[in-house]
Amino acid sequence: MNKEIKRSMNILLAGGAGYIGSHTAVELLNNGYDVVIADNYSNSDPEAIERIKKITGKDIISYEEDITDKTAVSEIFGNNKIDVVIHFAGLKAVGESVKIPVAYYRNNIDTTLTLLECMAEYGCHNIVFSSSATVYGEENDIPYVETMKKGTCSNPYGWTKSMMEQILSDASTADEELSVVLLRYFNPIGAHESGLIGEDPQGIPNNLMPYISQVAVGRRDHLTIFGNDYKTKDGTCRRDYIHIMDLAGGHVKAVEYAAEHKGTEIFNLGTGTPYSVLEIVNAFEKANGIKIKYEFGERRSGDLPEFWADSCKAEKILGWKTSRSLEDMCKDTWNWQRNNPNGYRGK
Ligand code: NAD
Ligand code: UFG
Repeated sequence: MNKEIKRSMNILLAGGAGYIGSHTAVELLNNGYDVVIADNYSNSDPEAIERIKKITGKDIISYEEDITDKTAVSEIFGNNKIDVVIHFAGLKAVGESVKIPVAYYRNNIDTTLTLLECMAEYGCHNIVFSSSATVYGEENDIPYVETMKKGTCSNPYGWTKSMMEQILSDASTADEELSVVLLRYFNPIGAHESGLIGEDPQGIPNNLMPYISQVAVGRRDHLTIFGNDYKTKDGTCRRDYIHIMDLAGGHVKAVEYAAEHKGTEIFNLGTGTPYSVLEIVNAFEKANGIKIKYEFGERRSGDLPEFWADSCKAEKILGWKTSRSLEDMCKDTWNWQRNNPNGYRGK
């Protein structure tokens, strides 16, 4: 892209202290962009910001603010010339979203509306949104392709993503200046190779890899594998796991794309290769020389047997593809967890 545009771009990372946001911040800073982070730390820790600075040797402007607070967000736009917003700020625990759906709709939809209103007010025309493979629902064949119709989500969290995609796409239809990039993530795992930043879930992890790494570090006794009677090759579910730094790289490409196009574009970010839960456990054991105690349990409600991405569009249009292996994902996860057994809180 045009180097002059790139040098002057300032990116607002809403929810940028979280798992995906912190890794993306590193990748953007290392590619010459400036970043501003706004986060209410409801699911993250300000220490992540210090670690980003340490890795990159760069300073960052950061705000402890709730993105649903329009006055606060407006002030951020007023004090910084924002060229592109990346919207990571959301609640993301699938099970919790079933118990407190209204809080999920309120937070996830409100953050999106507030950002869109402030962008319009301050003349910012580009937004990249953290969507999810979950919007394909259960009706679609695999692999998932962007041209497929969205499906029926199995939980309120998924519906918030589906609705936010609709809101953003309607906004870009109404405003021909607006550029919207919807990134549908598959299953990000791993950590930055420094081991300084990584995934730091609060409480009992919902997701597979942080659960495995907490068993490895002795914080949990054993992993429960949710179901071994699926119609897959070893009976456990299969997912498209993607290294977090490959995913972060996809955001750099998406920012460049958003700055040069108008309208709404959707991209899957996955590797295209699925692995089963048992394959992930075995890969972690092999890569790190650690045994993971596990037992089989009941199926988890809402889980699909298997899905993975067709990411040809991102490769063709964004010039993006993944380069890190499952072994890298397992090694980097463990490097982060063993150096930070209690996450950022043990700093
Ligand atoms: P995360 O919880 O680590 O990061 C989200 C960040 O947003 C957190 O730092 C949290 O404190 C912040 N936040 C939430 N609500 C906020 C608010 N109202 N105001 C300010 N900050 C707020 O999650 P993540 O894994 O980094 O995910 C980032 C985004 O990607 C989320 O929108 C998530 O739904 C989406 N996503 C994640 C995955 C995944 O597997 N991790 C998959 C698909 C989509
Ligand atoms: N699993 C276990 N034991 C655990 C945790 C998970 O067996 O303790 C299994 C699950 O049953 C599933 C697989 O590991 O078969 C992966 O589960 P995750 O919770 O790590 O990931 P999901 O595929 O369920 O969901 C993730 C995100 C969602 C997102 C989806 C698609 O949590 O937000 O990927 O992007 F929508």
